Amino acid sequence: MSHFTNNDFIRCWNDILVPKWNRFRHILSGNGKNHSDIAFEYANIKEGQKILDVGCGYGETCLELAEKVGSSGKVIGIDCTTSFLETAKIELAESRHKNVEYILGDAQDHPFQDESFDMAFSRFGIMFFENRVAALKNIHRSLKVGGQMMLIVWRGLEDNYCWRVGKEISLKYLTQPTKVGSTCGPGPFSMADEETCRDMLKAAGFSKIDLFKQNDIDVIMGRDIDDAIEMQLQVGPSGEIIRESGEHGKSMIPKIREDLKKELEKYQRGNEVWLPSSAWIILATKE
Ligand SMILES: C[S@@+](CC[C@H](N)C(=O)[O-])C[C@H]1O[C@@H](n2cnc3c(N)ncnc32)[C@H](O)[C@@H]1O
Repeated sequence: MSHFTNNDFIRCWNDILVPKWNRFRHILSGNGKNHSDIAFEYANIKEGQKILDVGCGYGETCLELAEKVGSSGKVIGIDCTTSFLETAKIELAESRHKNVEYILGDAQDHPFQDESFDMAFSRFGIMFFENRVAALKNIHRSLKVGGQMMLIVWRGLEDNYCWRVGKEISLKYLTQPTKVGSTCGPGPFSMADEETCRDMLKAAGFSKIDLFKQNDIDVIMGRDIDDAIEMQLQVGPSGEIIRESGEHGKSMIPKIREDLKKELEKYQRGNEVWLPSSAWIILATKE
């Protein structure tokens, strides 16, 4: 059991991760979209539905869902990070959608109305919750009977060279921190194991799992080589290793940068850098 509370994680998102996400939004949202574009092909979204988007970030998927449910439908996005939702609200006002609302809150225990949603959706959100079963239970409670939940979660680091590349190179020069000072939650790979994930879904009440699909695709990890290198230096497993190694970490950046350049150049398509990734697309029904 972690010594962190969800509030620590929420503080980490608000205080530490916001500038990094703003800086690399084009990559983080870009590789998210590479996966959700495929996931949406499996979601049976109909006009008029009411959909909950959990950990909606900048609300990009809320706007896509709003398009799918049409003006007779509704999308509620919930996120714990104030700044992401401020951006989401500005972009919503600039869009033509009138059927989206944002809630600033902790999706793990937010008092959603019972049985009020036709569908719940989360793109790379749920893995960060301190108690994922409690969060899934809360989502389950908020779904109508027959309602579906779609989750997109990363598979393991071993299957995600897009995140592993920086870690492998950083660990040539630095050691894995044993104690991480601040963290955004159990982490992006906390739902990577299929059996554990199925057990969590079952414990939350999702006895009917309709789809558990491995989605292996290349994703965009930089609009050019420098962009891709900076992103690996600041975000993800390598960003954490460097940050937690303090001054020593900073002093190793030139060497890590050089190695990253050599490796990432192999993955360039034109200027852009595309790397292999793997996620689960999960669809479950509330019976
Ligand atoms: C990896 S980001 C994904 C954002 C968005 N779904 C996307 O795909 O672009 C995870 C999001 O979950 C949010 N989050 C983390 N813990 C949360 C919690 N307990 N309640 C609500 N949102 C949370 C973070 O603020 C962040 O926006």
